[in-house]
Amino acid sequence: MRLLLRRNVALLLLACGYVAFSLYAAYSVFFGRGLVSRVHRVVKKGAAPNPGGPEPRRPPAEGGEDWNPWADDELAAEINVQQKRRDAFRERQQLIDKSRPRRYKVQIWGKAAIGLYLWEHILEGALTATDKTGQWREGEIQSGKINFSFYTGPAVVQGHVPLDTDSVVLVLNGREQQKISYSTQWLQYVQALVQAHTVSHVAVVLLGSERCTNDWISPYLRRHGGFVDVLFLVYDSPWVNDKDVFQWPLGVATYRQFPVVGPNAQMVTAARPYLCNFLGTLYKNSSRETLMGVLKRGDLGKDCVTNAREKWLPQETVDSLRQYQMALARSDLTLCPVGVNAECYRIYEACAYGSVPVVEDVQTHGGCAEGRGSPLRLLKDAGAPFIFLRRWAELPAILERERGMSPAQKEERRRRLLEWYAGFRQQMKERFTEVLEDIFFKIS
Ligand SMILES: *[C@@H]1O[C@H](CO)[C@@H](O)[C@H](O)[C@H]1NC(C)=O
Ligand SMILES: *[C@@H]1O[C@H](CO)[C@@H](O)[C@H](O)[C@H]1NC(C)=O
Repeated sequence: MRLLLRRNVALLLLACGYVAFSLYAAYSVFFGRGLVSRVHRVVKKGAAPNPGGPEPRRPPAEGGEDWNPWADDELAAEINVQQKRRDAFRERQQLIDKSRPRRYKVQIWGKAAIGLYLWEHILEGALTATDKTGQWREGEIQSGKINFSFYTGPAVVQGHVPLDTDSVVLVLNGREQQKISYSTQWLQYVQALVQAHTVSHVAVVLLGSERCTNDWISPYLRRHGGFVDVLFLVYDSPWVNDKDVFQWPLGVATYRQFPVVGPNAQMVTAARPYLCNFLGTLYKNSSRETLMGVLKRGDLGKDCVTNAREKWLPQETVDSLRQYQMALARSDLTLCPVGVNAECYRIYEACAYGSVPVVEDVQTHGGCAEGRGSPLRLLKDAGAPFIFLRRWAELPAILERERGMSPAQKEERRRRLLEWYAGFRQQMKERFTEVLEDIFFKIS
């Protein structure tokens, strides 16, 4: 019985083999040159079809005992199909990878107080203190195609930042000689990392000099043979070209602990008891003196909060900071006389509280750009809804107009200001991200 079965199977296989061979030979004669020689070789060897049947997945050993000519071609076909499947799979994967945005990593090292404005106010990143004293603070956010991580605090020292990327943004202070020396040390440290090929993309966010004299950093810029690919620079510097030098906002005074202010409905709707405020230090011969003179002379001061100090206090007390914030929150207007530069923290701080900045729009001495919207061209270009004046003598007329405005008009103006300021920060966030995507990673 078993014998019979085996004979039948053998016959069947032989028949199949014969049919297959005939078809194959015919196919080869008509279609394939290369294949004919294979058939020829098989015939010459005189090997019979393997009764055990082909093992399609094992490559036959050429010339070996169980070498099976049919299996060989079936296998080739099979391999071909599999290869095609794998190719298709890979192509699909590549398509998916392309449509899933690739993420890039950038570290920001905040070695100047404006780093906190960049991180907390513009990028809206959170910060955790990894030790109780807040010597080392860090955070992470995603913006565009970039994963940003931020490190700041006195404990963030050279060689101790866990570098997991080759792309770094340094936030530095270049306002005065002592700060410049400190910033130079950081630039030299990063330069060594670049030379060691540990870091390949570098940007700097710089609190520039108020007179726009930043020549010290010029040799570090790539266009002068340095390694800094892009510079974000505070104040209306003539260097700004929107190619490798971009203007950056001064922001609020984070060094004085000015907080992130979350706008609320009351900030918009509640009527404010004061027309204007000016709390600050009075410098001799400054425009601030002129301003105080105007306020006193016309008895205009009675509707405004003023508390001019004769001396500058480097360390703001908790009380004076609270008093200052209250003044901003409770006045319709905040008076912003020029300092060494027209752009000052007070402008941004007023915006945060929905108090319209009255900005003295005059060119200050130094090397800053003139014309084309300067001074304050960054804010003006962004359509800042401020009141600009040339001389404080114009103030009485402005205050007179304020008195004539309805609460609804003022409310509408506050809403517009707060919306504008949120939009401005968003715009800066997008610009910062896009510039780095473009210059660091060539994606646009
Ligand atoms: C970016 O951040 C997300 C969320 O934290 C994370 O899942 C992802 O792995 C990060 N990508 C890179 C390249 O670091
Ligand atoms: C104030 O300005 C005047 C003229 O602008 C000048 O003569 C005077 O020396 C200045 N005083 C001080 C203290 O700077």
